[in-house]
Amino acid sequence: MAIKVNEKNRFFQLITKNTEYQIKADKFGVLKHIWYGERTDFDMEYLQNYPDVGFSGNIYEAGNCRTYSLDTMPQEYSCQGIGDFRISAVGITHTDGSGAIDLRYKGYRITKGKYSIPGLPAVYADENEADTLEIDLKDTASDICVTLKYAVLESLDMITRSAVICNKGTTAATLTKAASLCLDIPYGNWEWIHFHGRHTMERLPERAPLIHGIQECSSTRGASSHQQNPAVLICEPDCTETNGNCIGVLLMYSGSFQTQIELDQINQIRMVMGINPELFRWKLNPGEAFYTPEAVMSYSTTGMETLSHNFHKTIRHYVCRGKYKLAERPVLINNWEATYFDFDSDKIFRIAQQAAELGVDMLVLDDGWFGKRNDDCSGLGDWFVNEKKLQGGLGSLTQKITALGMKFGIWFEPEMVSEDSDLYRLHPDWAIQIPGRNPMRSRYQLFLDMSRQKVQDYLYDSIVKILDSADISYIKWDMNRSISDWYTSTLSSDRQGEMAHRYVLGLYSLLERLTTSYPDVLFEGCSGGGGRFDAGMLYYCPQIWCSDDTDAFERTKIQYGTSFFYPISAVGSHVSAVPNHQTGRITPIETRAVAAMAGSFGYELDLNTLSDDEKQAIKSQIVRFKKYGDLIHNGLYYRLSDPMTDEFAVWEYVSEDGSEVLVHGMIFRTSPNTLQIRIRLRGLSPIAMYRLESDGSQYTGKTLMNGGILLPKAWGDYCPIELHFTLVGGD
Ligand code: DGJ
Repeated sequence: MAIKVNEKNRFFQLITKNTEYQIKADKFGVLKHIWYGERTDFDMEYLQNYPDVGFSGNIYEAGNCRTYSLDTMPQEYSCQGIGDFRISAVGITHTDGSGAIDLRYKGYRITKGKYSIPGLPAVYADENEADTLEIDLKDTASDICVTLKYAVLESLDMITRSAVICNKGTTAATLTKAASLCLDIPYGNWEWIHFHGRHTMERLPERAPLIHGIQECSSTRGASSHQQNPAVLICEPDCTETNGNCIGVLLMYSGSFQTQIELDQINQIRMVMGINPELFRWKLNPGEAFYTPEAVMSYSTTGMETLSHNFHKTIRHYVCRGKYKLAERPVLINNWEATYFDFDSDKIFRIAQQAAELGVDMLVLDDGWFGKRNDDCSGLGDWFVNEKKLQGGLGSLTQKITALGMKFGIWFEPEMVSEDSDLYRLHPDWAIQIPGRNPMRSRYQLFLDMSRQKVQDYLYDSIVKILDSADISYIKWDMNRSISDWYTSTLSSDRQGEMAHRYVLGLYSLLERLTTSYPDVLFEGCSGGGGRFDAGMLYYCPQIWCSDDTDAFERTKIQYGTSFFYPISAVGSHVSAVPNHQTGRITPIETRAVAAMAGSFGYELDLNTLSDDEKQAIKSQIVRFKKYGDLIHNGLYYRLSDPMTDEFAVWEYVSEDGSEVLVHGMIFRTSPNTLQIRIRLRGLSPIAMYRLESDGSQYTGKTLMNGGILLPKAWGDYCPIELHFTLVGGD
């Protein structure tokens, strides 16, 4: 059992293979955070000895003890309005208008297995893989009760957290904040790394020392967003890929989120993460409960690489679901950058024919196959085939494509509606807009009110009709704008603040229904590329189109940032045409391939326009991806360079049994009269012998990890790197 309790001292230890998390309910029932770090198997409370800090007051029961202050002590779920002036985890307005909440310990339960959260994605694990601790807290004056849930995945060094807030009183209350996690770190000198960006340039890591006060990364866009990601690292200043202490936390949520980190007056840290409280209000009538999304955290004493490995394993094995979660993914050809909206059945079929000859497994028909959709001004919501473009319908096209030995996939953007669509003309009230105000348009489109059951049912029925009309193996689920103008006609005015979260619940509910009804269909998430790249979506879609930027050079940065938390198998990545459509950059086709292989591999260009040499290159790339696919997706991933600052991007995959090693990457620029770049490998057995397959040379693991290997001299810019080693001997 990974959870130990000392009932007398009300002391809880959550123990994983290498780490330990400690909690204690003190004599006043305040739930104190004691420790998160390396395993000590020792009550670490002795480290907490607080002075009387001026203007940090004391709870009433502490009498004249001026050193007992909620404003200084580390806590598990910080309260509002009762003298802890740092970030609160929960906010509430009671019927009388007051806003205090004072949560005190009431009891606990321990169960085998992992709790789940109604309506929300969560890590899942069986009784042998996880244990759950639930701690009950209560605000006695109002009878608002909070249950903090912790699950321990011992072998993965993972702890998950979620809270349930229940109104057991007799009058209504309104939640104004309901965080998933509050994490206090009393000691140390910490920096943080968050992942920021924009459309076509997502998840760029930014590392900065913490400054006194609050720093934040968040989204108010209704989606987890291109601009910030709901995942954050805190690390000690000397922490590197392979050394030092760091903590990774991610939120399994696809809507607006907020991560705040406060460095307080006495240099302690508090992190609070959860649904973004901006515009959030949730009414709790007596007897009602609110469930927060799940936060997932891991601690490493051996640098960020360990954290990434922990998160990759957790997401692949305990977040992603369904037939494809660990399965080989089809190599696909997507027609978007090949045709945009300008296609008909013949054009698509010609692309498929060429793709089949080169060894591609699946054709994905992107935007433009439905309704009146010849550009992005119209048609969204009308999920019936545009027979002017697809003469003979979808059935006939898919038959021809499957006869080539290929599978067929199709694009949807279910959450949207164009004003110029039959759906909007019939149900204008289904679009999100505030009565009396003009809604914001973005890409000419509006959002459907996913909180409404009728809307979900319409989408379910429309998608089912298409899926049942042809042999469809894959859905790309797109979403191409940020959400604003929150309002729904189905909620009373005092509940409008629930809308943004209810939207996400509606989306999850629809995805749950569809993925359950169509277990053989591979779902790929997308939001203008990586605008909703989060663990919530990965619960339904085991891969997500990583970015609308398909430029191989830019992708090294985007995929580098993405790799800190998200596994390679989750990253949608394609070889596209040159000059690249987003940047005009020209990169060699092999370079584009190594970048795209760091994901669920595919192509996104008109293969008919390529030279014979390029076609041969593609054939060989597909053979190589099939050979390396298991190593790439199931192996351990190592970031060997930092492409944000280095002049090259190099990464490494090591198979779980250690028998194979693949080094991929690119040298950004060449220059004459320079030494070859030396790269040190990681994750090898020091005494084993490895053979470099390209020339048969052999090295010990120790040599490759200490001395390293010289990368081939770059010839031309964006020169590709591929070094494949196999184990020839050793221990
Ligand atoms: C945005 C996606 O990221 C693209 O790949 C493509 O599907 C377009 N939308 C289609 O509108």
